[in-house]
Amino acid sequence: MTSYFRKSIAALEGYVPGEQPSDPLVIKLNTNENPYPPSPKVMQAIAAVGPDQLRRYPNPLGNLFRDTAARVFGVTRDMVICGNGMDDILNLGVRAFSGPDAALVYPTPTYTLYSVLASIQASIVREVAWPDDYSLPIDQLVAARGQVIYLANPNSPTSTFVPVADVARLADAIDGVLCVDEAYADFACDNCMELAKTRKNVLVMRTMSKGYSLAGLRFGFAVGDRKLIDGLMKVKDSYNVDAVAIAAASAALDDQAYREQTRQKVIAERGRLADALARLGFSSLPSQSNFLLTTARRPPARQLYESLKARRILVRYFNIPGLDDKLRISIGAPEQNDALIAAVKELTA
Ligand SMILES: Cc1ncc(COP(=O)(O)O)c(C=O)c1O
Repeated sequence: MTSYFRKSIAALEGYVPGEQPSDPLVIKLNTNENPYPPSPKVMQAIAAVGPDQLRRYPNPLGNLFRDTAARVFGVTRDMVICGNGMDDILNLGVRAFSGPDAALVYPTPTYTLYSVLASIQASIVREVAWPDDYSLPIDQLVAARGQVIYLANPNSPTSTFVPVADVARLADAIDGVLCVDEAYADFACDNCMELAKTRKNVLVMRTMSKGYSLAGLRFGFAVGDRKLIDGLMKVKDSYNVDAVAIAAASAALDDQAYREQTRQKVIAERGRLADALARLGFSSLPSQSNFLLTTARRPPARQLYESLKARRILVRYFNIPGLDDKLRISIGAPEQNDALIAAVKELTA
């Protein structure tokens, strides 16, 4: 039967998100959500949304959020664009900067959505392998001569981080745009926000899903030079963020004290979990994010993933060469991490 779809879409394997089980008893450590609830101010902001705000279209640019971001990050409103989750922002970048005549470059392994978005857009893709030590392959990325580079920092699924000075060197060495995916920056020792303020070709992309516990709300944003933001505005849907999300995300971003509290708790648990897994013979890459990529030697990673799942503990297994001996484990609340450690201890005994 002939397909109604464009050939490239018919052939495309769509992005497969991590499992979202309906069983509330499952310990979910598979999609790097924040184990803590959002700031109480978020719930107040949602409760304060009136019927008129729902009856009318929202502000098309999400200006309440842009003004909050401008204050929090020390930029101007015209340097901020909002998105329906960071996936929307990533899509805007792929659509705006890459295509059949303009290459998207990124180091791999990384967030697999990049390649899916590029396929939909029929973009040229040039992948550059991360070296074994996960240092930034600057020369190779420059040599790939892309119109745009996507760099997840910290990277997923490796959890590793490259120094801002290296990212700056890369930005200064290329002709194109450098989009730094900072989905996990809230858990890192540093970030590239300064580069977005000082370079004409750097966009920093952030999400409210991880550091602000709002994965269900769907809100992301990018910060960068006004001309880059203006260009992205032309590509976005007219109302890509809704009135409830604008109110809630603005309240969350405004409550930096709360973010700092949950961030410290996650970072403390990250160290504890890495140590406990190391004592059980697992080696994890040094993490600057809210998850660990850990190598399981015995039993094989897939078997361990399945045995944990049978015990209602979900972690992420990637059936991809180079990753198929590893598990990606989100940092949970202390009691969730304890349950994971106890189960792994039993299964590896
Ligand atoms: C590296 C990376 N970038 C972006 C995202 C997307 O975030 P959002 O929930 O805002 O779409 C994720 C989600 O897991 C991610 O891992």
